Amino acid sequence: MKPLPKKIVCIGAGYVGGPTMAVIADRCPAIEVTVVDLNAARIAAWNSAQLPVYEPGLDAVVQRARGRNLFFLGQTEGAKKLADADLIFISVNTPTKTEGEGAGKASDLRYVESCAQFIAEHARGHTIVVEKSTMPVRAADTIKRILAQNPHGGTFEVLSNPEFLAEGTAIRDLESPDRVLIGGERPEPIEVLASVYRQWVPAERIITTGLWSAELAKLAANAFLAQRVSSINALSALCEVTGAQVDEVARVVGSDSRIGPKFLKASVGFGGSCFKKDILSLVYLCEFHGVPEAAAYWQQVIDLNEWQKRRFADKIIRQLGAKKGKVAVLGLAFKKDTNDFRESAAIDICRQLLAAGLEVVTYDPQVDFAAFCQAAGIAKGMRPAHAIQEVLSGASAVAVLTEWDEFRSIDWAAVAPKLTPGTVIYDGRNVIDLQIIQKAGMQINSVGVQNIN
Ligand code: UDX
Ligand code: ADP
Repeated sequence: MKPLPKKIVCIGAGYVGGPTMAVIADRCPAIEVTVVDLNAARIAAWNSAQLPVYEPGLDAVVQRARGRNLFFLGQTEGAKKLADADLIFISVNTPTKTEGEGAGKASDLRYVESCAQFIAEHARGHTIVVEKSTMPVRAADTIKRILAQNPHGGTFEVLSNPEFLAEGTAIRDLESPDRVLIGGERPEPIEVLASVYRQWVPAERIITTGLWSAELAKLAANAFLAQRVSSINALSALCEVTGAQVDEVARVVGSDSRIGPKFLKASVGFGGSCFKKDILSLVYLCEFHGVPEAAAYWQQVIDLNEWQKRRFADKIIRQLGAKKGKVAVLGLAFKKDTNDFRESAAIDICRQLLAAGLEVVTYDPQVDFAAFCQAAGIAKGMRPAHAIQEVLSGASAVAVLTEWDEFRSIDWAAVAPKLTPGTVIYDGRNVIDLQIIQKAGMQINSVGVQNIN
């Protein structure tokens, strides 16, 4: 068996690159792992006590490895590390294109291309380049073409090793993954990367495939997961008008071992940096490759999600009507246990509430309010509260948008007198106990539950 690679560089210190490299360094003390990013502030944060990513368990992993065999460097220092790297991961953002061919759907590969150029300029000898970011199928062709122009006679192999971690459980997912996927064209480079993962992942969980299958499998996995959420959310609307309860329906459906219980939680709509972007990319690929029927099928998963968000905000606007008043928004993150709000349902819902002339006050234990408003394009009308009591005080409606654990244990009996009489709690995550609310003499409107008030 070949020895382990000695040096790994990862370009991109984001939600994927940072935690993934921290776990590799932690589990492989013999490998030097360097994470490089052009965002100097982000690198400084990775080198500080206040990491740029909030993720349970991440601090401890970084503390064990940082300065030992895990290093975070800016672009100039990082460039030097590329020369003798055995493996270089590309872990940069691949957002949806906003202009040019495929705008609004296709993935924008400009950051990936600039990484490939950076590698071509600085790498020496033979290097394995690993796609970690989610790429459209056949993206490796583009990377290979750029690498081939390197001026130093270097040789390259390209592998696809998409990440399946979910934010909020990233460390658990990385330390104990369901599977690690490595796609490539030749067995030798696949074996080099597999030898790294085998340091802590059982060999039977390491799946190897061709390059194109690996690229497409990642898009497919995210599309399937999102499709489950849209399926249960579609049913939630029917439950609300028939008296069926969506959690009960989900429990029955999910207890079929062919279906399984996970990812059947009705919600205010899925968010996160991956689902929408990856499905749009899949839709574009289907259209581009001449299968519009498949494109229309996947597009519907997104359309349903947009409708679910709109439907939720509409209920609040209808109730408050001309009375206006304050809406207390609980949660801005796209799910619990992360400070990430990319594509969070809260963005569209807050915008819609503000457009209807409502006052919006928000509370989230981890999300940076100013960054949220900037990303959401919200300039005025919304303000932050720093505690649950504060956000709820004087509210005419409460909107629960993230399932943070602390929202489950709110003492509603104590809160009730502070709310405007007649306040309805709109539970977009079904985390609030209906009976407690009814006991407190309040009204609740949960996703997928008939409104009995
Ligand atoms: C997802 C994939 O799970 C992960 O494998 C991939 O690597 C990246 O994309 P992530 O976006 O971090 O991970 O979170 P995930 O747990 O998948 O949740 C996505 C969204 O769906 C969240 O807004 C979540 O609240 C929502 N969701 C999830 C539901 O509304 N109901 C569910 O049952 C599950
Ligand atoms: P993800 O969720 O996929 O990790 P993020 O946006 O959190 O995405 O992180 C991507 C990171 O990649 C950002 O910190 C960004 O600054 C970095 N990045 C983008 N392009 C380059 C590049 N050419 N060189 C180095 N870093 C880059």
